[in-house]
Amino acid sequence: MSGATMSGAGMSDEGGRAAGEVPVLETRGVVRDYESGGVFGSKRTVRALKGVDLSVRRGDTLAIVGESGCGKSTLARIITMIDAPTGGEVLIEGQKVDIARGISRQMRRKVQIVFQNPYGSLNPRQKIGDVLGEPLKLNTALPAAERRERAMQMLLRVGLGPEHFNRYPHMFSGGQRQRIAIARALMVNPEILVLDEPVSALDLSVQAQILNLLQDLQDEFNLTYVFISHDLSVVRHVADDVMVMQTGEVVEYRSRDAIFAGPQHPYTKMLFSATPRIDPARIRERLAAKASAKAAAAARTKDVAGSAAGNVSAGNVSDGSVSGGAGAAPA
Ligand SMILES: Nc1ncnc2c1ncn2[C@@H]1O[C@H](COP(=O)(O)OP(=O)(O)OP(=O)(O)O)[C@@H](O)[C@H]1O
Ligand SMILES: [Mg+2]
Repeated sequence: MSGATMSGAGMSDEGGRAAGEVPVLETRGVVRDYESGGVFGSKRTVRALKGVDLSVRRGDTLAIVGESGCGKSTLARIITMIDAPTGGEVLIEGQKVDIARGISRQMRRKVQIVFQNPYGSLNPRQKIGDVLGEPLKLNTALPAAERRERAMQMLLRVGLGPEHFNRYPHMFSGGQRQRIAIARALMVNPEILVLDEPVSALDLSVQAQILNLLQDLQDEFNLTYVFISHDLSVVRHVADDVMVMQTGEVVEYRSRDAIFAGPQHPYTKMLFSATPRIDPARIRERLAAKASAKAAAAARTKDVAGSAAGNVSAGNVSDGSVSGGAGAAPA
């Protein structure tokens, strides 16, 4: 079956999936209506999702892009089983999700979500060790010592240190908090991670570090990602397939290489032409060059201070292309 089943008039290409392979995540004709108004004004129905079909192979990343309000987060909540669709269905590892009949813990465990601003979902009075241990407390019968041990291991795995275990959320930077949110999501050993603009609030250098971490974790745990982003340079970096949404509809859904080689739908063309093509690898290079130029300048200042004559030759002045030296600071 194609990895890019389409709804409406959208465009897709064949996914090349092996026959018989069950997609880890599938949605079929997912519709979501919201009622608005009603107290004084007339009641109005907003159709936030108009029949979304998608299919993701295990270990792949599906990126979802589209303008603000097109329904990305609504779809994210439905996939994560936080919210029920008005119509259509969601299948996780081939199993239908039925919110009305209740969802087992085992099913819920399979899909976890990371939001743009993890601060909002972290209890300010809970130490990080407890934040990470809580999903195990709720979902397993593990004794407290074992929960602590696993929380510590995950803390280290996402690049934080043992000294962070007893700290509170406000004591971390944005990048560190996002590492905590990722660690918390991974504590219950999920199959699918839904990432709703996970790096949009971070500086470019921190973005690159978090994207690298996500890539390592995906490889290590064979995770499937649904990655929502408005930043096409990030999408290009992470995606296997790209789904473009406009006002609740999928207008184009193809492999990353195909879509970046030549967007087909007029909306996708517009979206792609409006975004400067920034390559995260180039950004990292530039930041590293900047940092080493800074280090070189600091070293020169030291030399000048150490030299009574102060006769530094103009030939030493950096043009910013110095290689080596300090890299970007860790998030
Ligand atoms: N709880 C709600 N009640 C009523 N309308 C809602 C609700 N949540 C979302 N909507 C509407 O559904 C549509 C899709 O919203 P959604 O948050 O999914 O968009 P989005 O693509 O995630 O946007 P952004 O890029 O700004 O995060 C919007 O028109 C929004 O106003
Ligand atoms: Mg959103």
